[in-house]
Amino acid sequence: MAERTLSIVKPDGVRKNLVGEVIKRFEEEALKVVALKMAHLTKDQAQGFYHVHRERPFFDSLTTFMSSGPVVLMVLEGDGAIKKVRKIMGATNPSDAEPGTIRKDFADSIEENIVHGSDSPENAGFEINYFFNALEIFGR
Ligand code: CMP
Repeated sequence: MAERTLSIVKPDGVRKNLVGEVIKRFEEEALKVVALKMAHLTKDQAQGFYHVHRERPFFDSLTTFMSSGPVVLMVLEGDGAIKKVRKIMGATNPSDAEPGTIRKDFADSIEENIVHGSDSPENAGFEINYFFNALEIFGR
């Protein structure tokens, strides 16, 4: 079933010039980019986005990192998009990620892991609406 998910090329991915590489890997697996923009998040915006993690010990460091430089925000559409994106990204910790995944190939640490993808339909709905309004999404 066609589904939507939110992905972010994180500040480390933008710094390492991996924007095109990340999008290419999604498009090669038949995911469609239906919304796309760049932003430099404030710490407040990063805290709002990651509010489910607000009690975690890494919350402050994560939100400082996510507001440390511009990011690329995108909505991807396709069959089973949420699971598909997570497979292409690989495990959160690059040392656990499968060969050929984005995080195995490019990430430096569990925090600076290049890319984000929604982990459930509920979170995908929240995350897409956090950054995009209906007029900015071009479903096809
Ligand atoms: P992401 O998929 O964006 O979801 C939450 C993020 O928190 C995760 O990727 C990592 O960047 C970060 N993260 C998760 N676990 C840890 C951890 N143990 N230490 C530091 N950062 C973490």
